[in-house]
Amino acid sequence: MSQGEDLTHSSEEVRCKALLESLWADYCAVTPQAQKIHRLLEARGETVVNDHIALRTWSHAHLNIERLAGVFLSAGYLEGGSYTFPEKKLRAKSFVPPSAHAPDHAQDPWPRIFISELMHDAFGPEVQAIIDAWVAQVPAEATPTEHLMRQVAWPLPRWADYQTLLSVSEYAAWLYARGLCANHFTVSVNALTTFSSLAEVNAWLIASGFALNGEGDFVQGSPAELLVQSSTIADRHPCGFVEGSKEIPSCYYEFAMRYTDPQSGALFDGFVPKSANKIFESTDVRASLP
Ligand code: NI
Repeated sequence: MSQGEDLTHSSEEVRCKALLESLWADYCAVTPQAQKIHRLLEARGETVVNDHIALRTWSHAHLNIERLAGVFLSAGYLEGGSYTFPEKKLRAKSFVPPSAHAPDHAQDPWPRIFISELMHDAFGPEVQAIIDAWVAQVPAEATPTEHLMRQVAWPLPRWADYQTLLSVSEYAAWLYARGLCANHFTVSVNALTTFSSLAEVNAWLIASGFALNGEGDFVQGSPAELLVQSSTIADRHPCGFVEGSKEIPSCYYEFAMRYTDPQSGALFDGFVPKSANKIFESTDVRASLP
């Protein structure tokens, strides 16, 4: 986007764009593989388009999905679908960018946003107590955007509490340690010109030395479900704890190919819970052991 273009954008759009850029910078800082893959794709002559960003959060009133979604909705995003993942005690919503920034827009495409939230009250009292006590220390007066842009100091996690959360929910432990940030960005395979399928992208990633989540051809979903996805195994990166820095899983990079929805005649904009459920496991401690 040129600077001149900014003049035609509302302040909400400018704020949203700044947030998207900040999320990418913070994500790259803890996910070195994402920047490497991004550069390798550009070296092939590709322009990388981001299919979606996934955010994770707590269900507490000042941090929940609806609060986080505000900055996107005020910039013109529309609510897409609602999803539940009972096994992982999560709910999620997706948001689709305004048509001027549609994901296939040539000028300034914006990503879809997928926000999931941990239903912390579905856990036992010990786990709830750890989460509630910690979230209570998160400054409630800050806006969700300030949280997402890391402009607010959060309490440091404790190693013992991280381990307790890890024993019941990888998601809870990850969110407790990493805080509000993008869990993954996603390369739109539809927008790539030197690959004809997701399986081809996956083979190229493996040949380039990256580890993928899953097995076989590493493809989650099917064309019949209108969305196929794959993901790398999360990088391990230092994270600050009360007890000092520890190396734990950070974030992963995802790859998505969408198909035309025969009912609407448009590209499918939603998500497939069964595939997402599997992909949540890309940040598992087990999966990312070297
Ligand atoms: Ni995703």
